[in-house]
Amino acid sequence: MSVMERITSADAIALEEKYGAQNYHPLPVVLSRGEGVYVWDVEGKKYYDFLSAYSAVNQGHCHPKIIAALKEQAENLTLTSRAFYNDMLGRYEKYMSEYFGFDRVLPMNTGAEAVETAIKISRKWGYEKKGIHSNQAKIVVCQNNFHGRTITIISASNDPIATENFGPFTPGILSIRYDDINALREALEDPNIAAFLVEPIQGEAGVYVPDENYLKEAYDLCKQKNVLFIADEVQTGIARTGRLLASCGDCGCSDKNCSGEPEVKPDVLILGKALSGGVLPVSAVLANNEVMEVIRPGNHGSTFGGNPLACAVAMAALDVVKEENLAENAEYLGEIFRQGMEKLMAKSSLVKLVRGKGLLNAIVINDTEDSSTAWDICIALKENGLLAKPTHGNIIRFAPPLVMTEEELLDCIAIISKTILDFEKKTGQ
Ligand SMILES: Cc1ncc(COP(=O)(O)O)c(C=O)c1O
Repeated sequence: MSVMERITSADAIALEEKYGAQNYHPLPVVLSRGEGVYVWDVEGKKYYDFLSAYSAVNQGHCHPKIIAALKEQAENLTLTSRAFYNDMLGRYEKYMSEYFGFDRVLPMNTGAEAVETAIKISRKWGYEKKGIHSNQAKIVVCQNNFHGRTITIISASNDPIATENFGPFTPGILSIRYDDINALREALEDPNIAAFLVEPIQGEAGVYVPDENYLKEAYDLCKQKNVLFIADEVQTGIARTGRLLASCGDCGCSDKNCSGEPEVKPDVLILGKALSGGVLPVSAVLANNEVMEVIRPGNHGSTFGGNPLACAVAMAALDVVKEENLAENAEYLGEIFRQGMEKLMAKSSLVKLVRGKGLLNAIVINDTEDSSTAWDICIALKENGLLAKPTHGNIIRFAPPLVMTEEELLDCIAIISKTILDFEKKTGQ
């Protein structure tokens, strides 16, 4: 079937419903084109994308520089597997190591694979470097986390929808309250803890921003107890929260907002999503030699991980982040966005709270968790030309591409405010 062949929204939805596994509940909009902050449905209606494929499209849809790199590399070489060297991987690894300030990178494809990889590296480090007895290593995770969908990762989840009837689960995972430094302190008393796996902001859970000292204190505790600090920045990383990385604070990275003093420097950094600007599944785990050297030939791998096409695309995507000052833009626009939502809250009893950092934000709807209000508001937003999606409970996540201009953002704030105020009037909520 040619992509030029026209299909209606109703037909596209019907096909997915008939032939696809029902593992998602999408908003009823069928997109066929994207450019920058905009997407178009098959009937030609234009929308602001205010989700960015869960923060994968930070650089905007079909960024010309990234697409040019994709096309150029696709005409030369796409995949060699790691059975052979290729002329892109080494360059990419050097680029990544220098860009994020780590000795080495292990390339993977999806976020979940990178999380799995980080867990494997940490366990092996626990046995070979920390001296944990065989098969006793534990990983500490946080309640309400989202790290992906594999069996080991859902073994770390307390979300019943993600876990029910998928057991038995992977052992060796200890779950503690997020943003509770005492809970971490207590957990780390166990000498078998190899690593603490944490999202700097819990995105999927509803954009929970921890106390401003939490990450630094958690990092210091990990150092004291010889426990690896693993930052899952699949969603928060790559300029989304107004910094190159959300965990780093002032980390000495190449981010222009960074003052140069390391505050939190994860022992293991997990990236995905925007690493390719949403063009291909590209993920990575970064660590210094002391940690990464536990991985030897044959210990881990992936046919597509580190493929030349991904390498070319990811380097272009990371160039764009710097060239277009996306971290600075996210920080600047994020302030304006939250101010806009605060003004809306003053007029609307439907919006209880706004929270977030940079351009990763959420509003909490003033209704019971099981009501459909957040969903219904997202449908109304769609009608008014802006796409966003509820996340857990009655929360709407707002995460537009970071290439948005101030004018476009103000337009979006106006759409969101008008939609919610009209919704309130219409439903009497
Ligand atoms: C923090 C975090 N980690 C891991 C993942 C999993 O990434 P993927 O869907 O690419 O497997 C996600 C996806 O939303 C995420 O937000």
